[in-house]
Amino acid sequence: MKAKFNLNRLAGKVDLYDRDNEAKKLISILSSNGSVVLGSIKGMGKSSLAKAVTENITDKVVIWITLENVYSSLNLVQQLIKGFYEARGISGIDEKLSGLNKMIQNMLTSSFSASSFIDAYFSSYIANVSSPVLVLDEITHARRLGRLYNHFMGVLYHGIKHGDFQVIMISSEMGAMHETIKSKQLPFDDLVEWIDLKPFDEPTSLNFLYEGLEFYGAICPKKKIYEYYRITEGIPVWLTLSGVRMVEGLCNPDGIYRDDRALKYILGQLVELSKKEIEMLRLISRKQSISFAGTHLKRNLYSLIRKGLVVNTLSSYMIPDPVIEHMLKYEIL
Ligand SMILES: Nc1ncnc2c1ncn2[C@@H]1O[C@H](COP(=O)(O)OP(=O)(O)OP(=O)(O)O)[C@@H](O)[C@H]1O
Ligand SMILES: [Mg+2]
Repeated sequence: MKAKFNLNRLAGKVDLYDRDNEAKKLISILSSNGSVVLGSIKGMGKSSLAKAVTENITDKVVIWITLENVYSSLNLVQQLIKGFYEARGISGIDEKLSGLNKMIQNMLTSSFSASSFIDAYFSSYIANVSSPVLVLDEITHARRLGRLYNHFMGVLYHGIKHGDFQVIMISSEMGAMHETIKSKQLPFDDLVEWIDLKPFDEPTSLNFLYEGLEFYGAICPKKKIYEYYRITEGIPVWLTLSGVRMVEGLCNPDGIYRDDRALKYILGQLVELSKKEIEMLRLISRKQSISFAGTHLKRNLYSLIRKGLVVNTLSSYMIPDPVIEHMLKYEIL
């Protein structure tokens, strides 16, 4: 596989680098009619892996639903319709879409609720698709919809259990995903497998950079390439940005911390955090003791863990994303 630096674009089957084992596992779960959770911190390549694998599926209908930053019940419903609209292989699609759009009209003008929409979407529409696979990208973002999220998860749980459809649930919010999967009311844990994406290891990261640079005909000293690897710790999104910077002739690895694209990417992740959450992140980035923190600060710690921005290791808390950690520590953010 030739390495390519697809910044701001998912790697598909043509340019997915490495990940052979994870792809094999995902394919084997899907072909035995199973369902799966794909988890990791942001930028590890979950959506890319799901895209690359589902692009090859011909005997099932893949419905890709993006729930990233879904902010209202109407928005959730629109995303469900969009996924249906964009899927390949659904027969009589125009007629079906007009039915779904009519339901939205009813939602806006009468007492027809979003949860009734979800029920109808699954019982009248998904039920008539042959072998549906729902890819639910950033599903835990829909948590903010409260009861509607619980309702949605209930419908998913029972559908998976009855074999009505399969799902690939993707989430960067590892804590929140755990809570959802381990819930007592809906023990998803019994129904789904987990694939936990890790960073590229050192040789894979270096090969990704060397081969990519060769592909683009760019030159950077070996030592600098290695430093880029050290900064990024093998996280694909940062390796990709490193590659792009080197292609641009920017062989200085420290510059990644001030790169506009890095700042934009990170601000996108931090945009919804409260001041207290950021304060807590900064303490952790500096490895300062948080033992003195009162309950109000602790509460922020738990919400950061739920959002996947902090992980709880045996002896301490840490920020798993090396670039975020550095920027907070040195107040670049
Ligand atoms: N295996 C891979 N080979 C090549 N490029 C990759 C690979 N995995 C990820 N990338 C690149 O890294 C970037 C981030 O990947 P992707 O969006 O798939 O990650 P993610 O885990 O879904 O992140 P997010 O949580 O932000 O949605 C993309 O630009 C993508 O092209
Ligand atoms: Mg993604």
